[in-house]
Amino acid sequence: MNPTVDLIAGARPNFMKLAPVLGALRADGRVGVRIVHTGQHYDPGMNEVFFSGLGIPKPDVHLDVGSGPQGAQTARILERYEALLMEDRPAAAVVFGDVNSTVACALAAVKLGVPVAHVEAGLRSFDRTMPEEINRLLTDAVADLLLVSEPSGLANLRREGVADEKVRLVGNVMIDTLVAELGRARELRMCDNLSLAPRGYGLVTMHRPSNVDDPEVLGRLLRLFLELGSDLPLVFPVHPRTRAAAEKAGLQWLLGDGGPMRCMQPISYRENLSLMASARVVLTDSGGIQEETTFLGIPCLTMRDNTERPITVERGTSRLVGHDPERIRAAFAEALAGRWREAEPIPLWDGHAAERVAAAVVEWLGV
Ligand code: UD1
Repeated sequence: MNPTVDLIAGARPNFMKLAPVLGALRADGRVGVRIVHTGQHYDPGMNEVFFSGLGIPKPDVHLDVGSGPQGAQTARILERYEALLMEDRPAAAVVFGDVNSTVACALAAVKLGVPVAHVEAGLRSFDRTMPEEINRLLTDAVADLLLVSEPSGLANLRREGVADEKVRLVGNVMIDTLVAELGRARELRMCDNLSLAPRGYGLVTMHRPSNVDDPEVLGRLLRLFLELGSDLPLVFPVHPRTRAAAEKAGLQWLLGDGGPMRCMQPISYRENLSLMASARVVLTDSGGIQEETTFLGIPCLTMRDNTERPITVERGTSRLVGHDPERIRAAFAEALAGRWREAEPIPLWDGHAAERVAAAVVEWLGV
């Protein structure tokens, strides 16, 4: 009988990485797959919409963990995934990205001797105040197969003493999903639905603790978006964490659905891609969107002081602007004036990374 591997997802950015790997493993056919959803994200708009939109079947197992403080959420995932492993043990666990579900499941697996493959290994922001950076470091320290998306990952892992035999540069699986979905996303013409012209608006996404948890920072940024929106209308699908933070700080009145900044509920992958592909400029603190805008050649103001994806700054369209209004204002004006670097193609961001992941996993399992 073929061995079975667990593919683990918990939070929104995992789903577009899991989808192509699932497809490639199925196409190969030499390993079986069990989809495990931890339940880190649970709102239908952050889950079902992505599963159905990306053609991912219903998870085989749902751990239903929900939200909580960092430690409690990670512990709950660890405990529930360990119980699953003890009941029904796969040949390996494949984890994605840098969310709490990634590190918790990697740790549960490795402690029970279940080998772990990490897709998107080796990325480092060198900022240990970010929960994701801790998740990346710990996951890579216990993973047995480290699948890397950009060359900086190879250098980081080598510096940390990870043996070269465990590491493969496979490229970016999220770009596989983008390539597969772009045609249908363009057909959606989301901007028409919002009565906006292609290149006649900017897209905003923001949810990082460093931008939303401090009411003063959040208020300053939301007011800045309203100001920038009078030069170029902005569209802002609001992450639940950001909405919750705004409500707690009494700032929800800044999240209106009309005027210069149109705020809305979270949207599907395809809707977001449709908006992103026709935007004049994107403002974001997301990791994945820096990569997607680089691939699409859209100027991206990354509202962070560092990035674990340096290739998007060195060869792509991302520029780090922090959360200082002056810097953001200046970069926004440059983007509107067309003074922005052109993206260069990134090696192995070619729509076929998941095939290389599947080949590496099959070879690693010795099937
Ligand atoms: C998580 C990831 C982050 C990723 C982001 C993408 C970690 C440490 N962070 O951040 O890397 O970029 O997902 O979305 O894993 N909430 C809901 N409904 C949901 C999920 C969350 O309302 O379905 C709200 C709750 O108020 C919750 C808060 O968002 O407390 C934070 O959720 P959590 O899963 O802890 O982290 P994210 O901020 O979503």
